[in-house]
Amino acid sequence: MRLVNSLTTMQRLALRWRRRGLRVGLVPTMGSLHAGHLSLVRQARRRVGPAGRVVVSLYVNPTQFAPHEDFAGYPRELEEDRRRCRAAGVDVLWVPADAEMYPGGPSGGPSTWVSEENLSRRMEGRARPTHFRGVATVVTKLFNVVLPTVAVFGAKDYQQAAVVRRLTRDLNFPIEVVVAPTVREPDGLAMSSRNRYLSPAEREQATVLWQAIEHVQRRVAAARRSLRSSQLAAEVRRLIQARPSVRLDYVEFFAPETLQPAPQVSPGTHMALAVWVGRTRLIDNARLEERR
Ligand code: PAF
Repeated sequence: MRLVNSLTTMQRLALRWRRRGLRVGLVPTMGSLHAGHLSLVRQARRRVGPAGRVVVSLYVNPTQFAPHEDFAGYPRELEEDRRRCRAAGVDVLWVPADAEMYPGGPSGGPSTWVSEENLSRRMEGRARPTHFRGVATVVTKLFNVVLPTVAVFGAKDYQQAAVVRRLTRDLNFPIEVVVAPTVREPDGLAMSSRNRYLSPAEREQATVLWQAIEHVQRRVAAARRSLRSSQLAAEVRRLIQARPSVRLDYVEFFAPETLQPAPQVSPGTHMALAVWVGRTRLIDNARLEERR
């Protein structure tokens, strides 16, 4: 495995691969890799085959964090990530420097942004108004440098994946966007680099995200007709209020493609929620199914 820091080197490699007609899989990450990320790497390998190239980008992107968020404290563990990538069969681990990604600095520097203006507005976009502009901008930059055939994102960040799909289509990137299933701990908690922030007591309380999803799944599977989303939201709120360290940010029910709110919930509706567990904000989502 090759570790690349320079953006220009990464770009030259990508152009060389393109000239040779190689398929390239990109897994964009902010590092602190866990089993969820490694499942994305496996998906990328499956898509490009043994002769293709798999690139993991590792960049804690400053423009997707608001000033009061956890950019400074975001876990950074390059040596471990390097080992994890090598063991997972990654060809290139690309770790760009801020100065190359945002010449002139992230706040004063860029005057060109990529902003998806429809799917970005709700849920995470309402809670974090500049977040998706930062994500869309950095993903566009990663696409432009790595020139992937396939890019793999995790379903845990459902809205992010929808925004990336949309920008890929709107900006005519010849890239297949693959969304890989969420990987969960045995007790259902979705894997996330931010789970490391949790104290043991908070970690135990964080399972309420999955319990809320399971509760709604059971209600939908048992119902003979559609259920009111306001009723289900109230039930989720009650479940979460029973956990002293957990505070609900939002729970939403929506159409999976458009992300438009669904006043009535039935199999096929999507559900997403965000909670604060102490000072850590966690998100999760699921498609609601007919049978359990
Ligand atoms: O999901 C993430 O880790 C980030 O939002 C991404 C896609 C790598 C962009 O910085």
